[in-house]
Amino acid sequence: MADTLRNAYISGTGFYVPEKILTNDDLEKMVDTDDAWITQRTGIKERHIIEPGTPTSALAAEAAKKAIAQAGITANDIDMIIVATITPDMIFPATAALVQEKIGASKAATFDLEAACSGFIYGVSIATQFIRTGTYEAVLVIGAETLTNVTDWEDRGTCVLFGDGAGAAVIQAAPKDSPSSILSFELRGDGSYKHLLNLPAGGSLNPTTHKTVDERLHYMKMTGNEVFRVAVKNMAAAVQTALEKCGKTVDDLKMLIPHQANVRIIKSVGKRLGMDEEKVFVNIQKYGNTSAATVPIALAEVAASNLLQRGDLFAMVAFGGGFTWAASILRW
Ligand code: ACO
Repeated sequence: MADTLRNAYISGTGFYVPEKILTNDDLEKMVDTDDAWITQRTGIKERHIIEPGTPTSALAAEAAKKAIAQAGITANDIDMIIVATITPDMIFPATAALVQEKIGASKAATFDLEAACSGFIYGVSIATQFIRTGTYEAVLVIGAETLTNVTDWEDRGTCVLFGDGAGAAVIQAAPKDSPSSILSFELRGDGSYKHLLNLPAGGSLNPTTHKTVDERLHYMKMTGNEVFRVAVKNMAAAVQTALEKCGKTVDDLKMLIPHQANVRIIKSVGKRLGMDEEKVFVNIQKYGNTSAATVPIALAEVAASNLLQRGDLFAMVAFGGGFTWAASILRW
């Protein structure tokens, strides 16, 4: 990026998951599956799920409050709220507006961003432009999902994968002497894969009818094994391209924070990039796939555990419905 502009950096992170836990043993009682299959094929042991009636904005607001507190600012300092989600509270108004009300961000612009699991990284890229150009001082980016609302609990091929949660980050201008900054992005999409991963009904293509409900078209559909192959290839390539854009190599990376969809995808991406396993962050065993929330939840856990020191180079990468995929290179 042109270096006449000021740097943007992540000044605060936070995450929130609902208290209730659904284990693989619990799922054994619901569909024809078992802990050994889920663990071996996905790496997931348990996931957090909402109580009925808890909207995405409630999880998002909790994560946001923590990120704002960690950044050392108040909600009134936030210029813009971006919520990345495929499970908004309503089709409109935007979940970001509902979060704005919940946290009391009096001057914030608000909108939602739909790029499925890549949404948080897309959101950080937008925030970075506003900060670098000097238009805004503080942008709140949230990835938040209540995927269990759109999960078909009779489909063992998908219901073992998903969970609920939210992660948030505050993006601000980096002080002149700070080593922290957001260096580059690679953002991509390809709609020709729309048939492999989607939620068919409830939009303008298939408006809600008794028939769409009877046919269970309001639940996520996925051809998992085909998604798997494209995900590995494109996630690794996106990291490589983002590295090239800022003149860095894989060897410069202290850590990779990948979307948590499947531990086998995560390990394959790490291997393809030639990264040591211990540099690739994994927390899927605790949360499952929370779509747009996996990367910011992982980022907040990395921050809380001090796994990165100020100035360390790291990458975030994600892949999801669309297909979309995205990578970013940052200095912590
Ligand atoms: N328990 C037991 N058996 C199962 C289960 C289950 N929960 N689910 C599927 N199986 C069976 C299948 O029926 C199949 O049986 P068969 O061989 O008798 O036909 C067998 O297991 C293998 O099925 P595959 O689908 O080929 O299994 P695979 O190893 O590909 O694992 C999985 C499936 C975990 C879904 C994997 O493909 C995956 O993770 N895909 C990518 C998911 C992803 O990245 N999604 C993108 C982000 S999500 C988003 O955007 C919202």
